[in-house]
Amino acid sequence: MNAGWSRSWCCPDVATTQAVAAAVAGLVEVGDVLLLDGELGAGKTAFTQGLAAAMGVTEAVTSPTFTLVRHYPAPGGIELLHADVYRLDRLDEIVALGLPELIEERAVAVVEWGERAAPALAPDYLVVRLEETGGEGERTVSLRPVGERWLARAERLGEAVEAVAAEAVAGGPAVAASWGASHGYPPAGGGVAEEGRPE
Ligand SMILES: Nc1ncnc2c1ncn2[C@@H]1O[C@H](COP(=O)(O)OP(=O)(O)O)[C@@H](O)[C@H]1O
Ligand SMILES: [Mg+2]
Repeated sequence: MNAGWSRSWCCPDVATTQAVAAAVAGLVEVGDVLLLDGELGAGKTAFTQGLAAAMGVTEAVTSPTFTLVRHYPAPGGIELLHADVYRLDRLDEIVALGLPELIEERAVAVVEWGERAAPALAPDYLVVRLEETGGEGERTVSLRPVGERWLARAERLGEAVEAVAAEAVAGGPAVAASWGASHGYPPAGGGVAEEGRPE
């Protein structure tokens, strides 16, 4: 398994970002941690809203900026935890709240500004990075699985997101061209392209 697996997709609008999030939601399990990374306004909360909706959360998901962590009940007796740890002292509070135990038992956690939270919450996690990369409303969403728990799902994750992202770019040749050029699509031989961590 390639530990450097990561893939990026161009999302020309918020609906596409949320469709990508929904595709990710199709593969989440209790105990999962998603770490969302990206500047203020990049779309971390928008992504979480797409994920939540696809998980069957009916409550409106709002930014947790002024609340340490929000709990959203989802079907099947599980919870979606949405936290924002833009200040490091909040991370200590989250650990003190016993969140790691709660996640293990019955929750899926989404943590904004996640890279800072990585070591404290779980050894395995999915890094979702959102970046403003082009024109108005465009974002690049990158997925980077860390740990066997997520790496085991990497291929399926890539395929699921590919399907929705390809549908979105099919609408515009300009977008499709720039997306293809920067991400090597379509991959030679129809396989799933793998690339190293982009840094
Ligand atoms: N392609 C896109 N993906 C995600 N958000 C987008 C996109 N295009 C525009 N937006 C807008 O950018 C804003 C992102 O805000 P938010 O999700 O709160 O950011 P963050 O949580 O990263 O600070 C939202 O108003 C959203 O509608
Ligand atoms: Mg936010």
